[in-house]
Amino acid sequence: MKRYLKIMFIFLCVALLVGCQKTANEINTESNPENNQSIHTNKKTLVVYFSATGTTKKLAQEAANILNADIYEIIASDPYTKEDLAYYTDCRANQEQDDKSARPQISNKVDNMQDYDQIVLGYPIWHGHAPRIVHTFLESYDFSNKTILPFCTSGGSDMGTSDSYLHQFTASSTSWHEGKRLLQDSSQQDLKDFLAILSD
Ligand SMILES: Cc1cc2nc3c(=O)[nH]c(=O)nc-3n(C[C@H](O)[C@H](O)[C@H](O)COP(=O)(O)O)c2cc1C
Repeated sequence: MKRYLKIMFIFLCVALLVGCQKTANEINTESNPENNQSIHTNKKTLVVYFSATGTTKKLAQEAANILNADIYEIIASDPYTKEDLAYYTDCRANQEQDDKSARPQISNKVDNMQDYDQIVLGYPIWHGHAPRIVHTFLESYDFSNKTILPFCTSGGSDMGTSDSYLHQFTASSTSWHEGKRLLQDSSQQDLKDFLAILSD
């Protein structure tokens, strides 16, 4: 009987410890500032992205959530296949990046671009630069007096001159923020820090 009571006592202590641990985790999650997602801005904001394999897309969606912004995906009229992206071959993506005049066509458009004050622009790095389809996008609208905040994803390269190279495709009155390479596993806080420059 004594042995039985001892086992019951140990069992109760373990159950109590596990219970406390769970409560602590729950409180921690609830009070985690990373869960307080939004950044406030009175400026109408559009998150625009091109993403061939989903990395940039995920971050763009998170950015749109944080900013409570609209989101637009640049979709190629001729979608990129796996072969088109095989950059160790003479693939379509490489050929486009080698040709400064290449302007891959876009199948969808933003009907109310005039309504937006600021744009977050996400793209993957292709040979040190934004894919040419991003140039097509920038040349398709009037960005006068709008603000653009670029970000990129990559296999390892930094933003480099990929952001400043894009300035030539917009009006001189367009205000460009310096861009940043975002890591695939960026936390909510990383994203908030990056996007804070757009807050009022
Ligand atoms: C054609 C091509 C060229 C690339 N060039 C580079 C490069 O110069 N530097 C780099 O770090 N990653 C490079 N990458 C890798 C992509 O930038 C990286 O995988 C990116 O996160 C993909 O984003 P996405 O999934 O949104 O398309 C290249 C990928 C492709 C398909």
